[in-house]
Amino acid sequence: MNAPHKTEHQPSATAVQKCISPDCAAEFSLRERIYVCRRCGEPLEIDCGLEKVADLESLKGRWASRATSRDARDRSGVWRYREVLPFDDRAPIVTLFEGNTPIYDAPKCAQYAGLTALTLKHQGANPTGSFKDTGMTAAVTQAVISGARAVVCASTGNTAASLAAYAARANLKCVVLLPEGQVSAAKLAQSMDYGATILEVAGNFDDCMRLTQELADVEWIYIANSVNPFRIEGQKTVAYELMMQRDWQVPDHVVVPGGNMGNSSALGKGFAEMKRMGLIDHVPKLSIVQAEGAAPLAQLFSKLGQANSAPEIETVSNPKTLATAIKIGAPISWKKALRAVLQSGGNVISVTEQELADAKAMIGREGIGCEPASAATVAGIKKLTAAGKIGKNEAVVAVLTGNVLKDPDYVAHYHRGTLSLETGAQVDGAKSQLVSGAFRNAPRRVAATKEAIIESVERAH
Ligand code: F0G
Repeated sequence: MNAPHKTEHQPSATAVQKCISPDCAAEFSLRERIYVCRRCGEPLEIDCGLEKVADLESLKGRWASRATSRDARDRSGVWRYREVLPFDDRAPIVTLFEGNTPIYDAPKCAQYAGLTALTLKHQGANPTGSFKDTGMTAAVTQAVISGARAVVCASTGNTAASLAAYAARANLKCVVLLPEGQVSAAKLAQSMDYGATILEVAGNFDDCMRLTQELADVEWIYIANSVNPFRIEGQKTVAYELMMQRDWQVPDHVVVPGGNMGNSSALGKGFAEMKRMGLIDHVPKLSIVQAEGAAPLAQLFSKLGQANSAPEIETVSNPKTLATAIKIGAPISWKKALRAVLQSGGNVISVTEQELADAKAMIGREGIGCEPASAATVAGIKKLTAAGKIGKNEAVVAVLTGNVLKDPDYVAHYHRGTLSLETGAQVDGAKSQLVSGAFRNAPRRVAATKEAIIESVERAH
């Protein structure tokens, strides 16, 4: 935690928590520890009171110069953008120097997806290896400000690992609810190492999320899932960082994987704010890609316009995908995410296990590892390009959400040709479905002789 700094701005003076329903739009003070509108039950977001900025160049210049500063708040790729965050300068920030994640050109993935060029923004380069860190630095800072005694989340693994790390930095008690047997060993190991109390729940992620929400009325517990509007504030800075890295050139498309829908909601908010402030003159089309067996929002999106009433999501009671990070049937932030997609003119689609696995291997061939869920982006971009929804020469950014070491079992099974999805029901006479390793790269056994090694080097691709 860091000492207070000299005052540059006081954003929280005007910031409020606000109901996202236009019919309600109730406002609540930042001090209230609530996760839904107390009047109508709809989700909340923070309105930072951001207005058109008179001197844009000076603001951009200040953000750019902070990247070389030694001040802890400047070095964090989240707190660097503190003018747009709902915290004042005395906030006792809890940081692991999150953000600052690279963008990469990915020519092989571009070709694979039918594009001239493709950019990958790798959020897996964060301190705990996933995009969650940019949100947790804000959520845990708010937990400290609000005097919470414990922080809690439901998770498919990454949220838990991230919360556990930030809670450890802040000396806060941390309890994570994980679906038993459905979290990758690497993510589970992180939560253990960072000292969280881990509860393995006999159920799936959606059960964990439901139980976590039931804790919302316990005054001393702070929930760090994406229902928490402060977490979204941290995550929205990824959009600001991306625009800085692109010299404020707006891409045509930004594509993210979709699970509980916090990431898409946050990026959508970031871009919309930048437009309001005059930092950009339009927003990129924001598209979300889900795994076919866990795609409630893609299903809803494909039926939009058919019903006269407001869209309502049909949850998937038994979601299935090997990309366990996004194995979610009842996404909590779907309303915010759908609003962001519709306002930007983007899409929500799903991809098969095979499409996702092959796209992941293709990202790997760039020398850029990611975890399975992240690869839904490149698989989805390939589909959207084939369908004419993304133009061959358009500027496209795929957001990779997690590091390749988050799920090494998946990677090894793919390359050895043993990756398979339990279907439960009998499909073509089998209870599991093999996902073939179309771009397999398995280790080979070799004799311990110089000749054998040389022969192998000659044959190597
Ligand atoms: N990619 C990864 C690697 C994730 O861990 C998640 C979500 C997503 C994509 C989807 O993002 O939920 O914001 O739509 N992981 C959560 C967790 C659910 O508990 O770690 P989202």
